[in-house]
Amino acid sequence: MYVSMKEMLLHAHENNYAVMAINCVNMEQAKAIIQAASEEHSAVIINISPRQMKAHGHGDILAPMIRNMAEKVPVPVAFNLDHGATYEDITKAMEYGFSSVMIDSSSCEFEENVRRTQMIASLAHGKGLSCEAELGHVGQASQADNDKMDLYTNVEQAKEFVERTGCDCLAVAIGTAHGSYPEGFVPKLDFQRLKELKERLAMPLVLHGGSGAGEENIRKVVACGINKINVCTDLFKHARKAMADALEENPNIDYMDLCMAAQNAMKDFIKDYMRLIGSSGRYIFEKYDGPELD
Ligand code: 13P
Repeated sequence: MYVSMKEMLLHAHENNYAVMAINCVNMEQAKAIIQAASEEHSAVIINISPRQMKAHGHGDILAPMIRNMAEKVPVPVAFNLDHGATYEDITKAMEYGFSSVMIDSSSCEFEENVRRTQMIASLAHGKGLSCEAELGHVGQASQADNDKMDLYTNVEQAKEFVERTGCDCLAVAIGTAHGSYPEGFVPKLDFQRLKELKERLAMPLVLHGGSGAGEENIRKVVACGINKINVCTDLFKHARKAMADALEENPNIDYMDLCMAAQNAMKDFIKDYMRLIGSSGRYIFEKYDGPELD
């Protein structure tokens, strides 16, 4: 089922669990994600950023492919533009057939962030798409800027932001960062702030930087109100390791078998993560007569 993020995240918000939003740049990743969701009876969101689209996974090619795969499973699958920054990137994603967009103006001043988000949210809603926004700023793990409290989301500002923009879900900064943390480092998260955000906003909240954040932290953010968790780095690492292991075992391995090794490793990783964040088993269908995804 190809859908926007709106209903699935409201369901997660009302039932206290989170849905994975997984970055995807090719067919093997799309298959791993959608098969994992189907086998786990879970909703899922497929993410791609403008940078990833330019580098490898072109949106005009991926959007119809993902839609086609999503329509072969009974669970809800959304395709979301991750960190859309420019008007051009976002309107292109809409033209390609994405079901959801994120407008990330989190580096702008508050008023400018409101202005841009308002415009994109109303454009998205007019087309039946959902809109994610970010307030506060989630930085890069490599720059160790995840503990800069002045970048964390301010609760009162967030209330005003959501009321004025009409965004469907809000990415909040509470201490995670994108990418790989230094070896052995586990981020310290501001759970109190997250609880206050949930209480004041009473809407789906998003955590960026879901890789390497630590199982205990992830369990706790879900308990405190996160409903969408973005994961990229750890998935790519699993794929690369599976390929490296397969090549080491058999340097002459067939190319398709190599791709399958990565696909299966990604699928296993995603299924485990879905169980951790409580999205597994939420969509059980007694009878499904639709087409199947092989
Ligand atoms: P990670 O690469 O840390 O998992 O972050 C992904 C993300 O937040 C994409 O928006």
